Amino acid sequence: MNKLIVSLLLTLGITGVAHAAGDATAGQAKAAVCGACHGPDGNSPAPNFPKLAGQGERYLTKQMHDIKDGKRTVLEMTGLLTNLSDQDLADISAYFASQKGSVGAADPKLVARGEKLFRGGDLEKGLPSCIGCHSPNGAGIAAAGFPHLSGQHATYIAKQLTDFRKEEAGRANDGDAAIMRTIARKLSDEDIAAVSSYIQGLH
Ligand code: HEC
Ligand code: HEC
Repeated sequence: MNKLIVSLLLTLGITGVAHAAGDATAGQAKAAVCGACHGPDGNSPAPNFPKLAGQGERYLTKQMHDIKDGKRTVLEMTGLLTNLSDQDLADISAYFASQKGSVGAADPKLVARGEKLFRGGDLEKGLPSCIGCHSPNGAGIAAAGFPHLSGQHATYIAKQLTDFRKEEAGRANDGDAAIMRTIARKLSDEDIAAVSSYIQGLH
């Protein structure tokens, strides 16, 4: 597992694009249009719209570039990023990263299975634990671009894992190493429901 993380960090380091530093104050004004779906402070009220509050800056900037460049399809955001510069995207990331993410609740019936998967993975299936990259409390590793997951809507998390798992036209922007696609393909529907619910209540 550690070897995998180290090689991933190296890959990210070598291929990572250097982006301008963001200004959170400037970003707040530029993010006004995003608030309709993601919530003014990034705590989206709708379960299919991801919370952006407290998310790592590097991860946010990467996703916005991927969405803008068509590497990740988000129909709801069509055209919204087209006229934003690299500096605008950096400022918006800095703003949402500076906000405090809210936490939801896990389904008590799913907690045990979700926690087991998140913390321990599944040796028989060759599934690594999630904590190696997303950290034990789900905070992620911002500097490495490993996203913060804790408190995220279960509906959104389940959709991402299902999309990563798809053979074609899924969410294929997790890099050449296909880290999340490889992991998601080892998850059953029941695993996804349990780990997504666990993440929603994690803090
Ligand atoms: C009409 C609704 C809507 C608006 C407005 C909107 N988004 Fe989104 N956004 C979405 C949806 C839906 C997704 C997730 C799509 C999916 O399921 O993959 C998303 C995903 C994202 C993600 C990826 C989050 C993650 O955890 O990977 C980022 C970053 C993002 N939006 C930023 C923005 C920014 C910045 C703006 C304003 C310029 C914006 N969005 C405006 C609906 C919207
Ligand atoms: C080796 C590191 C690694 C491991 C282990 C790992 N992840 Fe990830 N995960 C990542 C990276 C890197 C991304 C961001 C991919 C991208 O750039 O789109 C990610 C993205 C995600 C996302 C999308 C987040 C969002 O906001 O859209 C979810 C959900 C997720 N991981 C869940 C999990 C779960 C559940 C597990 C355990 C079963 C897990 N991950 C294990 C590295 C990892």
